[in-house]
Amino acid sequence: MQAYLLDFGNFMLRWLHVIAAIAWIGESIYFVMLDNGLRTPKAAEDRDKGVFGEMWAVHGGGFYHNQKYATAPAKLPEDLHWSFWKAYTTWLSGFALFILLYMANPSFYLVNPNASWAWAANMSGWQANVVALLFLLGGWVVYNELCKRISPNMTRDGVLSIAVAVMMVVVSYLSTQIFSGRAAFLLTGAVMATAMSANVFFWIIPGQRRMVKAMKAGEAPNPLDGKRGKQRSVHNTYFTLPVVLLMISNHYSFAYSHDYAWVIMSLFIFGGALIRQFFVLMHAGKIQPAYPVAGTALIAVAFWVAMPSVGGNAGQAQASVSVGMAEVQPIIETRCVACHASKPSQPGFNAPPAGLAYDTHEQILQQRDKIREVVASGYMPLGNMTGMTDEEREAIAAWSE
Ligand code: HEC
Repeated sequence: MQAYLLDFGNFMLRWLHVIAAIAWIGESIYFVMLDNGLRTPKAAEDRDKGVFGEMWAVHGGGFYHNQKYATAPAKLPEDLHWSFWKAYTTWLSGFALFILLYMANPSFYLVNPNASWAWAANMSGWQANVVALLFLLGGWVVYNELCKRISPNMTRDGVLSIAVAVMMVVVSYLSTQIFSGRAAFLLTGAVMATAMSANVFFWIIPGQRRMVKAMKAGEAPNPLDGKRGKQRSVHNTYFTLPVVLLMISNHYSFAYSHDYAWVIMSLFIFGGALIRQFFVLMHAGKIQPAYPVAGTALIAVAFWVAMPSVGGNAGQAQASVSVGMAEVQPIIETRCVACHASKPSQPGFNAPPAGLAYDTHEQILQQRDKIREVVASGYMPLGNMTGMTDEEREAIAAWSE
């Protein structure tokens, strides 16, 4: 019953998380498009009012006319739309999912028993939870300090972008050395996603509140607040595509169980940011195919690195002896079936994970290629909970029809 409740809760939270993320990211993409698509207003009276750009759009059977003021309108409107709950809901539901999925079962999902750093491989469940939380918090602190120290007045944003890019490579590397591959991709995405929400919470919204307060008091708003909001929201723009990719990576063990998972992940992050850059410029009327071409080239490099024959995936060496089903089936029964059965005996499992049950000979045979892949990469058995030996892995690698 408890496992079922967790599964159901997880399912519903995931729904909420995806809906909130669509609403947030959709709005943020819309506003970047709007900002870059603004044109100098045609009417002199608009320009005199301080309107700096305008956009006409037709959507859903109606015509819309957006105007942006250089700093602010002379008089604040009574009804001002604010956007923050979508960002907070996305983060809160994502964090709740992380607790339910990963932190509730850290030894399955967070710990990598094959980690090259011994302390990481030997972390207990609660230690892994603490390290994961520190990882998220540390990511935000470092990112925020980089912004504050490198470009406090938004005059060195170019240098800052390079620093943030380097930071993301370091985060990718550290996450894959400390955590299981699946958690490493998720946590790297979560470091970016946390920075995005925290940018809204700690900088963008408080800055806007200060601006509104100053205007209500009849003072000029501090332009630095506006510029800083812009700086952080520009970062958010380039984080969006990589974050979404890392958040949906959980079934693609070929990428995150790879020896060079951090390289693959970094290539995806930069590929996503370059592709985003194309759209940002496109909305400003500049078509620059070099960006998506470069982004796709990075993804092609990731494809090449992750290709099974290229990287040094453990246990994937060609075996000279061939092993038959008679030898393989008992291994699967002892190492996999506790979880992968129509009625799993492993506590905490309510249904066969990933929908894969190995109760019968036929089910096992049918899944041969996939089984070989996940055993060779070390992804399964999850967290090596069932203690699979190297000899058993070799036997599975040498398994012929
Ligand atoms: C402790 C429980 C557990 C054990 C033991 C276990 N698995 Fe899994 N397995 C899971 C879970 C949970 C998932 C789903 C993970 C995910 O969504 O990526 C999974 C997913 C899989 C997948 C799908 C992976 C994908 O990329 O979609 C395969 C194949 C698989 N397991 C094979 C095996 C094999 C073969 C063994 C034995 C050598 C094994 N598992 C042992 C829990 C387990």
